[in-house]
Amino acid sequence: MKETPPVCDYEGSDYRTRFWEGQGRTYEDQVERVALNRLMPPTGRTLIEIGAGFGRLADEYKGYDKVVLFDYSRSLLKEAQDHLGKNGRFIYVAGNWYNMPFVDGLFETMVQIRTLHHAADAPALFKELARIALSGGTYVLEFANKRNLKAIGRYWLRQQDWSPFTHDPIEFVKLNFDFHPTWIRQQLNQNGFKVGPALTVSHFRFGPIKRTVPTGLLVALDSMLQKTAPLAQLTPSVFIQSQHPQHGLKANNDSFFACPNCKTPFKQNNDSFIECVECHTKWGIDDGIYNFKEPL
Ligand SMILES: C[S@@+](CC[C@H](N)C(=O)[O-])C[C@H]1O[C@@H](n2cnc3c(N)ncnc32)[C@H](O)[C@@H]1O
Repeated sequence: MKETPPVCDYEGSDYRTRFWEGQGRTYEDQVERVALNRLMPPTGRTLIEIGAGFGRLADEYKGYDKVVLFDYSRSLLKEAQDHLGKNGRFIYVAGNWYNMPFVDGLFETMVQIRTLHHAADAPALFKELARIALSGGTYVLEFANKRNLKAIGRYWLRQQDWSPFTHDPIEFVKLNFDFHPTWIRQQLNQNGFKVGPALTVSHFRFGPIKRTVPTGLLVALDSMLQKTAPLAQLTPSVFIQSQHPQHGLKANNDSFFACPNCKTPFKQNNDSFIECVECHTKWGIDDGIYNFKEPL
């Protein structure tokens, strides 16, 4: 398999209970759903969520026929499967976003939220997404904004040595990056995406405010302020909508997965593994979860 940049590995992680459930982040969860629904086409045939984790946002995809929850962590995908079930509409796929196991031109809608901060090579990821994107479709990306008010304040008070105004990504903790909105737009453009509207999200991500102001009111205020993105983008989180590259390929109706090793479309589908007809690599399917992380 081709060498890829390092991956932040969530295998066996307690991310759902440690970060979300009962952890005082209802506000963040709700404002992200508001932004997602504003930018994502409500219906379609195929949607992929890249870095879907335990499927936190999966109930927003009701309008789609086929939904791929793609993540590097099989254990988080198992948690997703435990609550979403094995109904065939959701397809659980473990793999690495630098080397996706799908044919070219497959997905109408692509969604990526709270994951880009783990991308050591975001341009390589965008290149791979441009390959699997179906022309005419939409990519909704959320990223951690380095030019946020807290970072600006800390920089001016000399509590932080990196500038929030320079365009290059900042790795503030190993495999955790913040990005500048201008840099993100440039990288998307360079990979053929046509960048459209943005939304600023999580204006009130500050403990004392969240503890004192009712969540419903904060969500309503944030929803209004999200549309100020054309004026200033100073929030910790920014959502951006892009149109897929215009000149991409269109997947055949009968093809879906492709070998991560050689990119040959798969023809056969056994219950417990898939074998590539070209390079003969075998990939496991474990209780409904496709495993393209490493071959059998
Ligand atoms: C902070 S979690 C966010 C999960 C989900 N998007 C959410 O908002 O609840 C980041 C996710 O990105 C996934 N991830 C990180 N690097 C990846 C890679 N190279 N390929 C696929 N998934 C990756 C992790 O496994 C993890 O589930």
